[in-house]
Amino acid sequence: MEIKKPNGKLGVLIVGLNGAVSTTFLAGVFAIKKGLAKPIGSISQMATIRIGKRSDNNFPLIKDFVPLESIDNLVFGGWDIRDESCLEASRYAKVLEEKDLNNVAEELENLRPMKAVFDQNYVKRLSGEHVKKGENKYELMLQLREDIKEFRTKNSLDRVVVIWAGSTEVFIPLKDVHKTKESFIAGMKNNDVDIAPSMLYAWAAVSEGAVYINGSPSLSVDIPAIVDLATENNVPIAGKDFKTGQTLIKTVIGPMLKTRMLGLNGWFSTNILGNRDGEVLDDASSFKTKEESKLSVLDTVLQPDVYPDLYGNYYHKVRINYYPPRGDNKEGWDNIDIFGWLGYPMQLKINFLCRDSILAAPIVLDLVLFADLALRANMKGIQDWLSLFFKSPMHSENTVPEHDLFIQLMKLKNTLRKMMNVAPVTHIDANATNNELECYE
Ligand SMILES: NC(=O)c1ccc[n+]([C@@H]2O[C@H](COP(=O)([O-])OP(=O)(O)OC[C@H]3O[C@@H](n4cnc5c(N)ncnc54)[C@H](O)[C@@H]3O)[C@@H](O)[C@H]2O)c1
Repeated sequence: MEIKKPNGKLGVLIVGLNGAVSTTFLAGVFAIKKGLAKPIGSISQMATIRIGKRSDNNFPLIKDFVPLESIDNLVFGGWDIRDESCLEASRYAKVLEEKDLNNVAEELENLRPMKAVFDQNYVKRLSGEHVKKGENKYELMLQLREDIKEFRTKNSLDRVVVIWAGSTEVFIPLKDVHKTKESFIAGMKNNDVDIAPSMLYAWAAVSEGAVYINGSPSLSVDIPAIVDLATENNVPIAGKDFKTGQTLIKTVIGPMLKTRMLGLNGWFSTNILGNRDGEVLDDASSFKTKEESKLSVLDTVLQPDVYPDLYGNYYHKVRINYYPPRGDNKEGWDNIDIFGWLGYPMQLKINFLCRDSILAAPIVLDLVLFADLALRANMKGIQDWLSLFFKSPMHSENTVPEHDLFIQLMKLKNTLRKMMNVAPVTHIDANATNNELECYE
């Protein structure tokens, strides 16, 4: 594969620029650029990749192995329904302490969002004044295209990544209007109620040749009309829903149970969360979008049809409770009822005291850099090798999504090896004796 060298700077446009995830990501990037912090949690910056046999002892950093854009070369912008600087927004989000914000106050102060495309029918708990006006959805989409064009020209950019870190929209199933480019264009012009703002951002980005990544569980870019447009325009797309806390753990424990052929009677997951995302998800219709995304994981991992004796009848429940005192510091509990030899029951309990945006920020960085790499490698359409970063990975109609974290990691690394024309690591050496099988990365 040929990968174009990064030329000039890389533009990053964030939808939901003033949110907790976005501002935590931005503050971190500015601090890292100043040498004040390390990119902890970022695979693109900190992970290594094995080349050749394990005994060759060749483990370069991923960022040295593939021609990733450097953090120093990122230029930021974005949209939000709140007209305030990213510094004010960071203070509102209360994820980072004042001492950390002070170090990058100037950079955050200088960043303000463009007016957003917003429809309260899609996010019931928010209202915004910093929003665009237009005759219909098609016109609003054209205004977003203008924003992207201007951002490109002003910063002399030839590459732009648009990433949705905006609020989760209400649940909508796939409808006819989403199925073809023609029906979608007609729908935008007719103000079809089933076209969400997140779809307008996705259509605008892909039309402008910008990569689009969806960090929320909303449908957004995951509709055939936009998938087709992305393929036609040679644009990579990826989503949905950053895999950060409870689901990250689920995609490790689930495969472990299946690996050892231990059965599952039930999995009850509950959370308390007090940030604005928690408030949005307190509305049943937005929660339904998140619930679908969180529930999809186990069935794909455990394959109840293939293993009916072990997984044919388990009960899976996911709850998120809005609890303001905790802010962004989410607490998750999992009660897992399993069974073993002769059907004897056992239990696993997991209590994860995490920080939502601290877990999400490095994912934003990795997705931006890897998706830009895909663009330069001429990889178009759905980028399922980035599944590692998503709760509900986008996939084509004829493939099954991969949820197992370690298979996802292998897929990511083997894709990077393929990009650089290096043999994949299959963990099997055809010439080896059993003792020489190379099992570990
Ligand atoms: N933090 C995590 O661990 C995590 C994990 C997975 C997914 N997510 C998803 O990431 C998204 C952001 O999370 P957050 O905690 O930063 O939420 P947040 O509420 O702090 O930020 C969302 C931002 O989006 C803005 N917004 C809403 N609709 C918009 C629109 N149409 N156009 C432009 N801006 C708009 C809001 O004003 C707000 O500033 C949510 O959808 C959330 O579900 C977060």
